[in-house]
Amino acid sequence: MSSPAAEQTSLAKKLFIKTYGCQMNVYDTGRMADALAPLGYCLVDAPEGADIVVLNTCHIREKASEKVYSELGRLRALKEARAAAGGRMLVAVAGCVAQAEGEEVMRRAPFVDMVFGPQTYHRLPEMVARASSGEAPGGVVDTEFPAAPKFGRLPAPGRAGGVSAFLTVQEGCDKFCAFWVVPYTRGMEYSRPVAEVLDEARALVRAGAREITLLGQNVNAYHGATGDGREAGLGGLIARLDAIAGLARIRYTTSHPRDVDDALIAAHARVPTLMPFMHLPVQSGSDRVLAAMGRRHTADDYRRVVDRLRAARPDLALSSDFIVGHPGETDADFEGTMGLAREIGFAQAYSFKYSPRPGTPAAGVPDQVPAAVKAERLDRLQALLAELQAGYNAASVGRRMEVLLDRRGRRPGQLVGRGPYMQAVHVDAPESRFGDIVTARITAAHPNSLAGAIENADDALAGPGAAPSPMAEVGA
Ligand code: SAH
Ligand code: F3S
Repeated sequence: MSSPAAEQTSLAKKLFIKTYGCQMNVYDTGRMADALAPLGYCLVDAPEGADIVVLNTCHIREKASEKVYSELGRLRALKEARAAAGGRMLVAVAGCVAQAEGEEVMRRAPFVDMVFGPQTYHRLPEMVARASSGEAPGGVVDTEFPAAPKFGRLPAPGRAGGVSAFLTVQEGCDKFCAFWVVPYTRGMEYSRPVAEVLDEARALVRAGAREITLLGQNVNAYHGATGDGREAGLGGLIARLDAIAGLARIRYTTSHPRDVDDALIAAHARVPTLMPFMHLPVQSGSDRVLAAMGRRHTADDYRRVVDRLRAARPDLALSSDFIVGHPGETDADFEGTMGLAREIGFAQAYSFKYSPRPGTPAAGVPDQVPAAVKAERLDRLQALLAELQAGYNAASVGRRMEVLLDRRGRRPGQLVGRGPYMQAVHVDAPESRFGDIVTARITAAHPNSLAGAIENADDALAGPGAAPSPMAEVGA
């Protein structure tokens, strides 16, 4: 098994995967690498010289999908150069554009060797074999939703997932929001069984993870089988994960307001490793627009959910997604969104101009909002969200918070991590602190990050298993 590293590199075939879009794609990229590892493929960080190049794509807005075709143009040149030198490079399109457009990708970019959707990654070795052998001259296209979910069939993750790791627990969505293309690309809702999630979480912790973010398109719709004929919701799953020694932090994303249940709220009150942060997209503050979007909740429903969450965990930081210019949105509707954003006081948020997606109900509606109006509304909303975020960050100055140092800073001698409330915190720290949870006193706030100074030199000795107490994070 233990061949020298040098030999492994020289024998290894090179795999480059470029990831677009959401965190689920980041997770999937890892799983694709795992699926191809037994065939001798190693991940490299540039397409030049790679034997396989995969674009793991996002279909959510038009811009994201169109990027794929321009990137394919560049890859075509690389592929041709490689062929001229007597080599071979396979080009693959994976992810949500592949799922939604399938054959269309092959038509627009006929030099592509493989097109496959997010539910097929366990079949990758077979697809690569077919594409390499030339037995599929028109390319390999696999965009089926196999009856049996892909997760159990993928090899267990072998790579170290890093100090902060992603774990997909739920995929797909049955809510069919009018603007949203994912139910068509990721399929119907599926939750992985509890035991499978716990096994993967333990493996990630053994590989060095201190923090795990549970992922799902609608993660709080999670309802995984417990093995005794019952099901656990997200709150129950989090309580079980909390028992894993060495796992210091649990996060989850993305949630839907309708699926915030009592058990999840209770988890925020009781589970010490669950971080006090929630990304809870509201999309709009207007009931008319929410109805047109098919969100099945009102602005007041959202306010009530937030009140209950804050009653359970008063320091909970909230983040959200907004769409401006959904078909039919009037000035008054938009003011409703501005009002709601200010009232809730989001710690951070994402906002987008509505982008009509082929095949979705909202795309066919006649009263589309003119581009200039969308642009103006987006500017105003983003200015407000930036102001709220700057205010939230400024209020952190002088507080103490626990920071998981999971990235290197731009300057040598600087490490970066996340505080409990998802803010990026820059500290001066030696490399030996990488992966530690340290207590930092916040010294300065910037629009998108904080600066801090490590308070207690002994923190680094705490080591895995020393779960931070939520009270310690509230700061003095
Ligand atoms: N599951 C989440 C959606 C996550 S996708 C939910 O239920 O709300 C991330 C965000 O992209 C969405 O919340 C939405 O704000 C945005 N988005 C999705 N489709 C879009 C579209 N057609 N145009 C513009 N933004 C869109
Ligand atoms: Fe589902 Fe609507 Fe989100 S369709 S994934 S709840 S945007």
